[in-house]
Amino acid sequence: MLDLTQRTVLITGATGGIGRAIAKTLYAQGATVILTDINQERLDGLVQDLGERAHALAVNITDKEAPKSLLKFSEPFGGIDILINNAGITKDTLSMRMTDEMWNQVLSVNLTAGFHLIRELLPQMMKKRWGRIVSMASIVGVIGNLGQANYAASKGGLIAMTKSIAQEVASRGITANCIAPGFIATPMTENLPDNVKQAMLDRIPMKRMGTPQDIANVVAFLASDESAYITGQTINVNGGMLML
Ligand SMILES: NC(=O)c1ccc[n+]([C@@H]2O[C@H](COP(=O)([O-])OP(=O)(O)OC[C@H]3O[C@@H](n4cnc5c(N)ncnc54)[C@H](O)[C@@H]3O)[C@@H](O)[C@H]2O)c1
Repeated sequence: MLDLTQRTVLITGATGGIGRAIAKTLYAQGATVILTDINQERLDGLVQDLGERAHALAVNITDKEAPKSLLKFSEPFGGIDILINNAGITKDTLSMRMTDEMWNQVLSVNLTAGFHLIRELLPQMMKKRWGRIVSMASIVGVIGNLGQANYAASKGGLIAMTKSIAQEVASRGITANCIAPGFIATPMTENLPDNVKQAMLDRIPMKRMGTPQDIANVVAFLASDESAYITGQTINVNGGMLML
């Protein structure tokens, strides 16, 4: 089992489908977990499910003050060693109908907020000469998807940003990687029409949707000491939907 007992991890989007599985998995490996999402009640429920090494602060990740508030909140727990940049939204429609608001909201949550958080955290990680940054991209950020120009741009942006940050901090013991999930069963995908779901399943050699746990298992590895020589990478977790 991977050992995260000496580590404090910050997970954004922690009460979502994938975030919750990540929180449970890293907690089980001994990490102190700091959970953040929009709704404090849902966060409190998750803290109760986990136990005494779990702590939560609700913020809107796009607020200017959010990174500073989260860092301050984490101080009593030794600061943040591992960032799981997982919060994300979709606002889908064909490009010719996409409003500026739909574009800006998705870029702001999925890409800009992650950058702001990483920028605030890096000095701390540099001082410790150890750090792990794992950002949740998407298969859509690699191959695009009709109706998701905003989402694809945000996830492709995360992948490119991660490669740049990885180069900037590699010599300090800090790694930065992305995970690109395929089609995972969570609240984000449950409302898709049945015909869209079936069309997706037809493209997956394993003939099933992924589970949040499939993603959390890879997060755990990328958060550990064992992944020390992997940086600037995007790990595709998609049941064979895309093979690179
Ligand atoms: N489910 C999939 O098939 C799939 C595929 C590829 C990538 N992803 C990515 O995985 C990540 C997790 O997705 P999920 O499927 O668990 O979705 P989800 O909707 O269940 O969870 C996303 C979480 O992010 C939170 N969030 C959204 N906007 C926020 C904001 N402004 N401030 C703070 N928190 C905010 C939401 O409250 C929610 O709890 C996302 O980045 C998503 O793009 C999901």
